[in-house]
Amino acid sequence: MKTCAGLGLFIGLIVARAATDSSPLPFTWIDPADPTVLAIRESGERVMDRVGHTMVYEVERAVMEQGLSHAIAISHLKDLVLPRPEAGQPRITAIRHTSLILRNPANQPDQAEQAALEIINSAIHGGLDVPAILVQRLGPPNGPSEWRVYRAITTKPICLQCHGPLEELLPAVRSILNSKYPEDKAISYTAYQWRGVLRVSFEKP
Ligand code: HEC
Repeated sequence: MKTCAGLGLFIGLIVARAATDSSPLPFTWIDPADPTVLAIRESGERVMDRVGHTMVYEVERAVMEQGLSHAIAISHLKDLVLPRPEAGQPRITAIRHTSLILRNPANQPDQAEQAALEIINSAIHGGLDVPAILVQRLGPPNGPSEWRVYRAITTKPICLQCHGPLEELLPAVRSILNSKYPEDKAISYTAYQWRGVLRVSFEKP
């Protein structure tokens, strides 16, 4: 998957409606190179670096120490504790992952996430550079805001033990996935394929 830093594929100003649990919120794309979002973007990148590594490490460790079946129960981000707020820094309010191809329907994207997923999907299908980072502001123009930073997640070979072709999954894994996730669509991946996005949300101080 190709990536490009910063502004590479800045999509301009798109205003749309974002569905949240309660009511839909308008969202706006922000140029990741915009200095007013520097602190949010940098903090988002740091958190996503950490969470991305933790996700892979957690899966590897669980597979090695307790076996795949246990790893299915712990995967992923389930026990994640949000970083403590730091004075003067944007406060992290959520860390989530989602995809166009879901295993757990609870990870369904809302409209703002869907828009981020579609930008990446179109770039991949159009043979364009995938934006390294996407930034959104959600909320009415003068109201309280949520800021979101997104990054694409790619599969590693270890991911295929649970997201690979059905016929290559271990029977025990297949059976747990079948019973826990009857609507599972997140199979048949190959290594280094686009899998979805990580999203970090912030509230500005
Ligand atoms: C041990 C099995 C296992 C492995 C290995 C695994 N996953 Fe998953 N994955 C799951 C399960 C189970 C879920 C559903 C989690 C939930 O209930 O939210 C899931 C969900 C996801 C989701 C959320 C969207 C959805 O489909 O619900 C993403 C993104 C994801 N996995 C990416 C990865 C990546 C990237 C890797 C490799 C680094 C990986 N997974 C390795 C079991 C696994």
